[in-house]
Amino acid sequence: MDDKKKVLSCIQPSGMLTLGNYLGALKNWLNMQDEFQCTYAVADLHAITVRQDPQKFKGQIYSTFALLLALGIDPEKSTLFIQSHLPEHTALSWALSSVTQFGELSRMTQFKAKSALHADNINVGLFSYPVLMAADILLYQPDFVPVGADQKQHLEIARDIAMRFNRIYGEVFKIPEPYIPKIGARVMSLQDPEKKMSKSDDNINSFVAILDDRDTIIRKFKRAVTDSESSVRLSEDKPGVSNLINIYSAVTGKTAAKVEKEFEGKGYGEFKLAVGEAVADELAPIKERYEKIIADKAELERIFRAGDERAERVARKTYFKAMKKMGFVL
Ligand code: TYM
Repeated sequence: MDDKKKVLSCIQPSGMLTLGNYLGALKNWLNMQDEFQCTYAVADLHAITVRQDPQKFKGQIYSTFALLLALGIDPEKSTLFIQSHLPEHTALSWALSSVTQFGELSRMTQFKAKSALHADNINVGLFSYPVLMAADILLYQPDFVPVGADQKQHLEIARDIAMRFNRIYGEVFKIPEPYIPKIGARVMSLQDPEKKMSKSDDNINSFVAILDDRDTIIRKFKRAVTDSESSVRLSEDKPGVSNLINIYSAVTGKTAAKVEKEFEGKGYGEFKLAVGEAVADELAPIKERYEKIIADKAELERIFRAGDERAERVARKTYFKAMKKMGFVL
């Protein structure tokens, strides 16, 4: 077990998880479980950088954790825990913030985008978010971090922070590689295919939630924005259709060329229905398992307490190693 390469990733409990989360990241989380030693967490600390309603937030943390189990993350094989339960994450984040430059954080596209979206709440947490993310990663010394394309820049800064720390204080952190799927790395909105599919979108037709029921999923795909042609073809000037082709490819494993051939001479109506059905088939068993898992809070708590403990043993070791190198009296 020890010679397996290590994997770490996290997801925010900020509402309903989407098909984008699933195809961009969670599918890989699942597929990596046997070959790698995996650690996964619900990144609740990251989620408060945009305002959360405390009561709803609590429910979302439970439901995100339950959904990860429903997906098939096996808490015996992988370490599955809740970020805020381990003080090492925030503590290391503080240490790392002193080797992170104001300028490099200012250049983060997600910070710029979220600042524009929440102009009335551009808080310091939103700004230093990538430093906490670097701490999440570096504490577990992973080789790979499975994420969607939107997190690539955050991975790069985590690598820069790690290299800088190692250079100044001596070797502590492994330099991780991003692990991004070839298909599904950037699932776009069904209503505005120039924008990424996001759970925080006001228009619920723009995203498919993993827990949407079959009819809802099919209806959302039927309403997906395409173009005025009628050919199912992957092309930069056909962002709506290309997004649907990518989704269909990611779910069925068929190449884009094969999908184009399958729908040659057929209209968008038939194509959208096929995509909707394929996605609904893929997500249905997850929803079914989820309903059972979320109903047993005591069992959920038992699972995350055990995961917290397992994660903490690793996190503590790295944290103290870093603090020692920095000259702290331990
Ligand atoms: P989050 O919670 O926004 O998203 C979780 C994962 O889903 C991917 N993703 C997508 N992939 C493809 N298409 C989309 N439309 C789409 N939307 C989301 C994300 O890339 C991500 O992999 N900062 C992270 C959470 C985090 C983290 C970490 C990740 C905290 N600490 C340490 C890795 C390592 C985030 O906000 O992801």
